[in-house]
This record gives sequence, C-alpha cells and structure tokens, in this order.
Amino acid sequence: MFASPLAEDAEIRPLEPWQAEEFAEHVVRVRADISPWIPWAATITDASSAREFLEMYARRQAADQGRLYGIWIDGVLQGGTVFRTFDPVMLNCEIGVWMGAAGQGRGLVTRAARQMIDWAFGVRGMARVEWHCDPENARSVAAAERLGLTCEGTLREAFVMNGERRGVQIWSLLADEWRAA
Ligand SMILES: CC(C)(COP(=O)(O)OP(=O)(O)OC[C@H]1O[C@@H](n2cnc3c(N)ncnc32)[C@H](O)[C@@H]1OP(=O)(O)O)[C@@H](O)C(=O)NCCC(=O)NCCS
Repeated sequence: MFASPLAEDAEIRPLEPWQAEEFAEHVVRVRADISPWIPWAATITDASSAREFLEMYARRQAADQGRLYGIWIDGVLQGGTVFRTFDPVMLNCEIGVWMGAAGQGRGLVTRAARQMIDWAFGVRGMARVEWHCDPENARSVAAAERLGLTCEGTLREAFVMNGERRGVQIWSLLADEWRAA
C-alpha cells in the first residue's frame, strides 16, 4: 500500500513505528556501509531504539515537520530517505538519504530524492530544498550534484560524527530552478 516504484524490483514507501524490528535488522545489516556518515547508524541497535527513532519521525510527520521513507529491493529494506526538517511556514525543508552497499550505484536514491523534491515543490509549495553532507562524503556530494543542487558553502566543524568535529556542506535547490530543469 502507498508504495511508489523506483525500479522493477525496488519501491519507496513510508517507514513507520510498527516496522521497528525490520528497521533494526536493516540497520544492523547496513551499519558498516552508512556509519561513517549517519549518526543514528551507531545508536540504533535493537527494536526498542529503532522504534524510538521511528516514533520521533512519526511525531514530526504528525506535526508536518518531517517524514521518513524506506526503500525496499526485492522486498528487503535496503535504504531510505527523510525530510529531516520540513517547515511549512518558511517553506524550507532538508532531504537526507541512505542506502546499504547492496543497493548503491543504481540511481535508486536519486530517483527517490526526485520524487520527494517533486512533492515538496509541486504539492507542498516549498520554496527551498536543502541537502547537508560532509564535504568528504563523495557519494553524497555526487548525488547532490546529480540532482542539480547548488553548493552554498561549508559550515566549518559544525557537526560531531563519531567523536570528531566535521564540516557540513550545504546544498540547495529553489523551486524555480527545479521547474526550469
Ligand atoms: C549517499 C548514498 C545514498 C548514495 O547512494 P548511490 O547509490 O550512490 O546514489 P544514487 O541513487 O544517486 O546512485 C548513483 C549511482 O548509480 C549510478 N546509476 C545507475 N543508473 C542510474 C540512474 N538511472 N540515475 C542515476 N544514477 C544511476 C550512477 O552512475 C552512480 O554510480 P557511481 O557512484 O558508481 O557513479 C550512499 O552512498 C549512502 O547511503 N552512503 C552512506 C550514507 C550517507 O552518506 N548518506 C548521506 C548522508 S549526507
């Protein structure tokens, strides 16, 4: 139900608290692939911590301040996307993504992010979509470029990841740019 296809064998759909066990198993499976860049990869260790995380996004969704989706390949949860922030007053939102090694390199995340951007601009009237990443995260930088975002600069040492202060590169896309593309 409520799934959107990304490829013949892949789809994106909401990821909700009732899927906590499946999400916990997924995080264990992809931890090594995503933990250099995703803080919750280290803190979600079981169904209980997975449920807490999914409930946080369910609350954000209820307040129209965020959303979380999973990407399933052949019925197995392999990655996902989030509106990490969503501000319907200022009309700004931030998209985040992750994908385990088994699903990387197929353009699935790019396709999923395009659907989110279409919805944000086309349905919700957002003015600006942001993408935040570590400037050394080459795959994430490549995805931002592929999606046509513009790099606005790097907030120096703005984020703590695995005990180390890291830069946060800010990318953005404006509604008019998306329509023109
Ligand atoms: C960032 C991340 C999601 C990117 O995953 P990805 O699979 O490279 O992303 P895409 O879906 O855009 O796929 C692009 C790749 O698919 C290939 N591809 C194949 N068909 C494609 C298509 N139709 N459209 C676009 N790309 C396609 C591209 O050539 C590219 O491959 P390459 O990197 O070998 O050149 C992934 O690396 C990841 O989860 N990393 C760890 C977590 C993370 O860093 N998250 C982001 C935090 S800011």
